[in-house]
Amino acid sequence: MPPHTMRPHSKPSNRQQELHYDALIIGSGAAGLTLALHLAENARVAVISKRTMETGATWRAQGGVAAVLTGQDSVDQHVSDTLNAGAGLCQEPAVRFTVQNGPAAIQWMIDKGVPFTRNGDNEDYHLTREGGHSQRRIIHAADTTGLAIGNTLLQSTKDHPSIDLYEGHLAIDLVTTRKLGIPGLNKCLGAYVLDIDRDTVNLFRAKSVILATGGSSKAYLYTSNEDSASGDGIAMGWRAGCRVANMEFNQFHPTCLYHPNDRSFLISESVRGEGGRLLLPDGTRFMHHFDERAELAPRDIVARAIDHEMKRLGIDCVYLDISHKPALFIKEHFPAIYNRCKEIGIDITKEPIPVVPAAHYTCGGLLVNHEGRTDVDQLYAIGETSHTGLHGANRLASNSLLECLVYARSAASYIESRLGEPLEDVSIPAWDASRVTDSDEDVVISHNWDELRRFMWDYVGIVRTSKRLLRAKHRITLLQKEIDEFYSNHQISNDFVELRNLAQVAELIIESALTRKESRGLHYTLDYPEKLPAVSDTVLTPDA
Ligand code: FAD
Ligand code: SIN
Repeated sequence: MPPHTMRPHSKPSNRQQELHYDALIIGSGAAGLTLALHLAENARVAVISKRTMETGATWRAQGGVAAVLTGQDSVDQHVSDTLNAGAGLCQEPAVRFTVQNGPAAIQWMIDKGVPFTRNGDNEDYHLTREGGHSQRRIIHAADTTGLAIGNTLLQSTKDHPSIDLYEGHLAIDLVTTRKLGIPGLNKCLGAYVLDIDRDTVNLFRAKSVILATGGSSKAYLYTSNEDSASGDGIAMGWRAGCRVANMEFNQFHPTCLYHPNDRSFLISESVRGEGGRLLLPDGTRFMHHFDERAELAPRDIVARAIDHEMKRLGIDCVYLDISHKPALFIKEHFPAIYNRCKEIGIDITKEPIPVVPAAHYTCGGLLVNHEGRTDVDQLYAIGETSHTGLHGANRLASNSLLECLVYARSAASYIESRLGEPLEDVSIPAWDASRVTDSDEDVVISHNWDELRRFMWDYVGIVRTSKRLLRAKHRITLLQKEIDEFYSNHQISNDFVELRNLAQVAELIIESALTRKESRGLHYTLDYPEKLPAVSDTVLTPDA
């Protein structure tokens, strides 16, 4: 077994392998890498990523990480802003736990060497502001915070002798005692993993399996996320027996670039935090008609307002203008956004940026406690894959990376406490590839991807109705039948695994949206436009 396995150099072989670790971490974003570094002092750890190690939302994060970092700010204020944004659905203990542990998590990153932006020549770090925050509390590395965090943490994992990294390794499904027909507590024993280059499915066995696979925003036609955001961890966890919560709350970021050459580039909320104004095509501002906080209202409100104006006026986009600020300030604070827009002919120091809302973040996920534990023993979920109770009905900007870090650290402490337990002494069959034939139907996969993402956008988007949701439910049922048939008869491929997971997650989103008979936070339906007086999570339980 090669240490630090990246892409194999030897000749591909189809021989299946069985690999043993203390911990198998599926996902190399902020959550997965943080956990790996905390566990590796005492454990042998494998981190797998289905594409490169730099795949995932972490690497694209712009604005920064929210935390209480000055005397002017307080835990109570950050908690209160988070609860307000969450529209009554956050779990206060989870919010308090996250916010209280925030400063230590930031200090850990600083100690690791993450190059956060400083205040001029000052020793202090520059803190920016975003919608829903009553204070400047977002630490950042210009407008490429995720890249700075990712690069620093990845380098540390590469340097660590107890961590093996596997690129191009796609987890297909989890192995559990229940699936093997073993009675008693349902335990996770490992995962079947497709080595994409070698076209082989290996068995990774581990005492702990951690899902750090990110979100599922690729379920929507327009998104700020990469193709990899197909909700694999949520779908695998669900199939393994875990409950999911609040999947109806998919966050739409108000300002993605609107341009034929790039529909997934984000224009950070910190542009509005630093004074950016939202404009209609005639140059007038409109946000004050919707909320007294105007451009700095929480995201659900801003995205819905833009959607409303676009539909009312029949326009393709609105505009975000920061050109009234000095050009030097803009270039210093937003170098990546400035350069990307310049490449496509927009000079943001002189003209407004065309923007539209796009699917951005999965607020729901696998139900976990403060230690990232799911309903299945030895199976954990951290980061965007999980539902901790922090975000409620609408995530406060820059609380997501914070959640990745805080829960990765607390999960590590719990997992460490169980390292003395032996690997389960159970025989697990190798992946059965005998029953399948080669797929020559790639076109079916790409057609189904497109169809799914389009009806999710049209029927399960920013504004919903019961009729549209039922229409989407009908479509997803048909699609899933086709996918199940395909799964048992054709050779497994990464595109197909992602489509299968995306369909599973889409079904959970639709089911959750149909269950909620009110409008709250990110879930807005014309049939139930008011909030119900009683607040409750939407929790779905898989069949045993
Ligand atoms: P990710 O970083 O998404 O990583 C997922 C990992 O799982 C990847 O390595 C992927 O390859 C792997 N994976 C997935 N499925 C499989 C599988 N089946 N097998 C093997 N590997 C798999 N949040 C903030 O707090 N502040 C910000 O400024 C901010 N900006 C953002 C900007 C953009 C453009 C986007 C898209 C999101 C932003 N967010 C921000 C949200 C935040 O970046 C994410 O929620 C967070 O990075 C998620 O981290 P993660 O570790 O959970 O997952
Ligand atoms: C952004 O920079 O606008 C993204 C911040 C976030 O998603 O938290």
